[in-house]
Amino acid sequence: PGSALVDTHGRVHRDLRISLTDRCSLRCTYCMPEQGNEWLAKSSILTLDEIERVARVAAADSITTFRLTGGEPLLRADIVEVVRRLNGIAGPDGEPVELAMTTNGIRLPELLPGLVDAGLTRLNISLDTLRRDRFRDLTRRDRLDDVLAGIAAAAASDLRPLKLNAVAMRGVNDDELVDLVSFAVDHDAELRFIEQMPLDAGHTWDRSRMVTRDEILAALSARWTLAPVPGRGGAPAERWTLDGGPRTVGVIASVTAPFCGDCDRLRLTADGQLRNCLFSTTEYDLLPALRGGDHLEATDRAIDRMLRACVRGKLPGHAINDPSFLQPARGMNAIGG
Ligand code: GTP
Ligand code: 5AD
Ligand code: SF4
Repeated sequence: PGSALVDTHGRVHRDLRISLTDRCSLRCTYCMPEQGNEWLAKSSILTLDEIERVARVAAADSITTFRLTGGEPLLRADIVEVVRRLNGIAGPDGEPVELAMTTNGIRLPELLPGLVDAGLTRLNISLDTLRRDRFRDLTRRDRLDDVLAGIAAAAASDLRPLKLNAVAMRGVNDDELVDLVSFAVDHDAELRFIEQMPLDAGHTWDRSRMVTRDEILAALSARWTLAPVPGRGGAPAERWTLDGGPRTVGVIASVTAPFCGDCDRLRLTADGQLRNCLFSTTEYDLLPALRGGDHLEATDRAIDRMLRACVRGKLPGHAINDPSFLQPARGMNAIGG
């Protein structure tokens, strides 16, 4: 315990993505089926205490960022309390950890003040389209106005940098790329386009429907002069300034330009499974350690062992581009993006 989580390829793990629920208020086609999935059993969902316990052990090792995901993290009834508990945790060198969240934005207007007060430091909000009819088709819910209200609340807060995520899809929103960037600029946010990954519950991913990084850059170049921003670190997004800056745009090209070589992420699912990759087919079950006994020091040692086993089992990268690629059984909503 207390030493860095390094895998067999030398990657130090600093980012723990914590999925708080598999439920969501939307049903995006690339993530969930219309009827939803079979939800995780309530009894398996980690409690506040259990989440805090795993987070503490991970931070004592080498985790410096917690990112709360879902499903939709704001659907968790104790979300403000989760943030408050994690905010009390110190990172490996005693520094406070970063506490970020990825959300669809829908409950932000009511929840944001409490979240900021509890210690949230950063927000990424998903926004694939600015058109109401498209939003309804894509998410199967007529809630664009709620999302826009959430983005307005975030823009009015002090949380920066603020990022908006858009999955680019052929024939769905690929005529809106410039509009989405302009919208983000107007909200003091950075738009990041994401190549669609094979993680939908219906296993219907089709490479030809994916808009590639190069196509995105070509579309944006018609409107702005793009110049690469150096110093990406382990971040999934490549970034460019717009017309010399300071505004920027990002592209997350997981399929055509994988960044696995610099991956520093671990994932904890809402039902207590550690995953070393979005696409991993093996999970490391923390529930026995968390629920097996009441000797707390032994529990911490067992959590630490699981974190190390998970990191040790990490492959050099995903295999989306291999003919033998197999999609993980879990849908994106239960992995956390
Ligand atoms: P920042 O720290 O703000 O850069 O956050 P992020 O981009 O890591 O997180 P976010 O939840 O906003 O994710 C945006 C997109 O990047 C989603 O589609 C994620 O699935 C994808 N993503 C995040 N981390 C990884 C990763 O490790 N590998 C791959 N392939 N995609 C990732
Ligand atoms: N491919 C790429 N990104 C996805 N997201 C959800 N499903 C997919 C997918 N199949 C994105 C969401 C959100 C982030 C957490 O993950 O749009 O912005
Ligand atoms: Fe990391 Fe897996 Fe994403 Fe590659 S695909 S960057 S290994 S999580």
